[in-house]
Amino acid sequence: MGRFILAIDQGTTSSRALLFRDDLTVAASAQEELPQHYPASGFVEQEAEDIWRTSLSTCRAAMAEAGATAADIVAIGIANQRETTLVWDRETGEAIYRAIVWQDRRTAPMCARLEEDGHGPLVQARTGLRLDAYFSAPKLRWLLDNVPGAQERAERGELAFGTVDTFLLYRLTGGRVHATDATNAARTMLFDIHTGAWDDDLLRLFGIPRSMLPEVRDSAAAFGKTDKDLLGGEIAVCGIAGDQQAAVVGQACFEPGMLKSTYGTGCFALLNTGTVPVTSRHRLLTTIAYQLDGKRTYALEGSIFVAGAAVQWLRDGLGVVSSAREASEIAAKADPAQDVMLVPAFVGLGAPHWNPDVRGALFGLTRATGPAELARATLESVCFQTVDLLEAMHADWAGRDGSSNTILRVDGGMSASDFTMQRLADLLGAAVDRPVLMETTALGAAYLAGLASGFYPQPAEFAAGWHRERRFLPEMDAGTRARRIAAWHDAVSRLTQ
Ligand code: G3P
Repeated sequence: MGRFILAIDQGTTSSRALLFRDDLTVAASAQEELPQHYPASGFVEQEAEDIWRTSLSTCRAAMAEAGATAADIVAIGIANQRETTLVWDRETGEAIYRAIVWQDRRTAPMCARLEEDGHGPLVQARTGLRLDAYFSAPKLRWLLDNVPGAQERAERGELAFGTVDTFLLYRLTGGRVHATDATNAARTMLFDIHTGAWDDDLLRLFGIPRSMLPEVRDSAAAFGKTDKDLLGGEIAVCGIAGDQQAAVVGQACFEPGMLKSTYGTGCFALLNTGTVPVTSRHRLLTTIAYQLDGKRTYALEGSIFVAGAAVQWLRDGLGVVSSAREASEIAAKADPAQDVMLVPAFVGLGAPHWNPDVRGALFGLTRATGPAELARATLESVCFQTVDLLEAMHADWAGRDGSSNTILRVDGGMSASDFTMQRLADLLGAAVDRPVLMETTALGAAYLAGLASGFYPQPAEFAAGWHRERRFLPEMDAGTRARRIAAWHDAVSRLTQ
């Protein structure tokens, strides 16, 4: 009998593999950076072979660290960077072009044209998404238009499309399985999240042959077995979810009204809305949180493009701190009398503003402003953006079950900063819970695989095992909070007007 679940967390900047024990603790882990390519302004690409190579080698390294063979692994779960788009030859498994990464903006003009032509409402009604370059369909259209012969080959059934999970599954199963899960399908802009099926009108709108698309399964399901030569034996792949949805699962946000926010390069907040796909009136996305036993659970999602990236800017761009930890330390000592405000719109603003053209700005600088005030403004900018997302979520969700019960579960690199989490609680005016198990994305993928294979218990029991390491309660008085949030909105409006 196996002892571990192997979780693959294929993220934007790195590939990771973790082995989880039956008590959900981590037995071993490995990580490799993923090279990025920026061939033109707004273009972000990755080599398909780098995605594959780093995923496979980290699996092997984690297994070696734990002294595990394939027989010790009960199942594999995959969590992945979402929307990133790949097309490959069904015969050879070779990609026809680099992966176009979710951050890539090359299709913004295409999306603007489609919006002008009035297709936005159809896209939102079927997919819950905005007509934005963030999602897969316009990237896939670009590939078919720009790789010579691709459209014809796709129409002949020679090419396969997939997000990163689908590509990894195809490679892991030696080209035998072309499938995805509902959470990843929900990010393509080709999938009807209400019926759980690929949408013919959207396929027609984007000119995508149906034969390119993977089969869509539950997030916890039998996805196929690995080729025996890859990891020293056949291992079943039993769980797949987009990384942000995997974090919802890892945070055990199984009840309507439960909410998590993951702080990586960007920040993604998801609110479980249960069986109801809530249409946002405040520019959020409606998406699938997970699909179990054919039943879809939905979420409202707010996506911020710059969170940890703002701290990187402080460290690598400005050089005012040498580490993220130092940023928190000096921010705590900043002069309370100075109101320095950073709007980190380095690549435009995501939800709820969705303004790709605006750029960042600093407000309130004085001769006395120094590294401490800049560090505080940077960390607070992430909190203010989260406040905007949660306000939009509350407005969309008001009056429903769990809507008065806001506790935000946090994870990701920045959640390790006590200063930032306390400031987040202060500015939200709500409790912020940090879990004991911080590897929530990988844990979610592992849990889905363990659920499907009987290694882990049902969701209610798993949720009972979720524990917080610390709760941050708001300490700021209501007047100060209102004044600070008004100052933030003023700063944003000065840029977006
Ligand atoms: O939608 C993009 C998101 O899935 C990326 O997550 O953690 O790889 O930056 P991450």
